[in-house]
Amino acid sequence: MTKVLLAGATGYLGGYILNELINRNYDLRVVVRSPSKLSPEEVKKIEILEAQVTEAESIINCCQDVDIVISTLGITRQKDGFKYIDVDYQANKNLLDEALKHGVKKFIYISVFKGRELRDLKICEAKELFVDELKQAQLEHCIIRPNGFFSDMAEFFHMAQKGRIFLFGDGEFKVNPIHGKDLAVVCVDAVKNNEKEIEVGGPEILSQNEIASIAFDVAGNEKKITYIPEWLIKISLFLLRTFTFQKFYGPIELFLTVLSQDMVAPAMGDFTLREFYMNLK
Ligand SMILES: NC(=O)c1ccc[n+]([C@@H]2O[C@H](COP(=O)([O-])OP(=O)(O)OC[C@H]3O[C@@H](n4cnc5c(N)ncnc54)[C@H](OP(=O)(O)O)[C@@H]3O)[C@@H](O)[C@H]2O)c1
Repeated sequence: MTKVLLAGATGYLGGYILNELINRNYDLRVVVRSPSKLSPEEVKKIEILEAQVTEAESIINCCQDVDIVISTLGITRQKDGFKYIDVDYQANKNLLDEALKHGVKKFIYISVFKGRELRDLKICEAKELFVDELKQAQLEHCIIRPNGFFSDMAEFFHMAQKGRIFLFGDGEFKVNPIHGKDLAVVCVDAVKNNEKEIEVGGPEILSQNEIASIAFDVAGNEKKITYIPEWLIKISLFLLRTFTFQKFYGPIELFLTVLSQDMVAPAMGDFTLREFYMNLK
């Protein structure tokens, strides 16, 4: 039976991948720092290794008898003092070293759509540094490059509930965000297919104005939008990078950058943003 090691199982995407792997009856080991975030049903079906992946010595032999590693490790909203280079790069590098030591066949890694073009952002710099190492390594790899997750689109819905949404430019930049459940299918399919790099977004291509309309409609509030001009975004980015620390400006520079351009990836999956917002009510 194919044995999979999943790193990141307590996160948004990792949780969906965990369930997809369980449903497909894979032999599973997860490496997590907080096992209490796993559900009792999940705990019964998997082997759990409690470890801090940023410390190489804490994951020694984690890949013993493992065929496939899937990692969703990365900083999104965590504010625990680590930098992107510590997690998105180094923690994944620690895992890769263990995978190579134990003859793992394939390493599946979650980067970001347009990650190479956006390398000047701190998060993409760290992620793509790991991608470079993974591509050189003596094992099979698959790099998944997803567009924004529905989890991040929740912010628009929360703004709609409060009565006003802030958009960038004229609100006509387009994006096709993806639900974690749809993306998990793509990640687990990668265990068996031969693609080395997969760009993926959700089934609907929406402008920010359309996203705002859906959010107001589901929230049941009158549509009120404030448009932030692009010059103000550029000045804000400059000030943030100059006067604040990376752990503060990192997520903001990513958010501002991806919302200031079209982000349309090959479309997959079924879940619509409207369904997602309905579930947030
Ligand atoms: N969100 C998006 O829109 C988006 C879009 C494209 C790509 N991505 C990438 O997809 C991946 C998964 O994203 P997600 O939204 O599922 O993120 P998430 O919910 O924050 O999950 C990230 C995982 O990384 C772990 N992690 C973070 N910092 C850590 C640290 N210092 N030590 C050990 N583990 C740590 C988290 O563990 P804990 O649960 O213990 O915190 C969690 O399991 C990330 O690499 C992200 O960059 C995200």
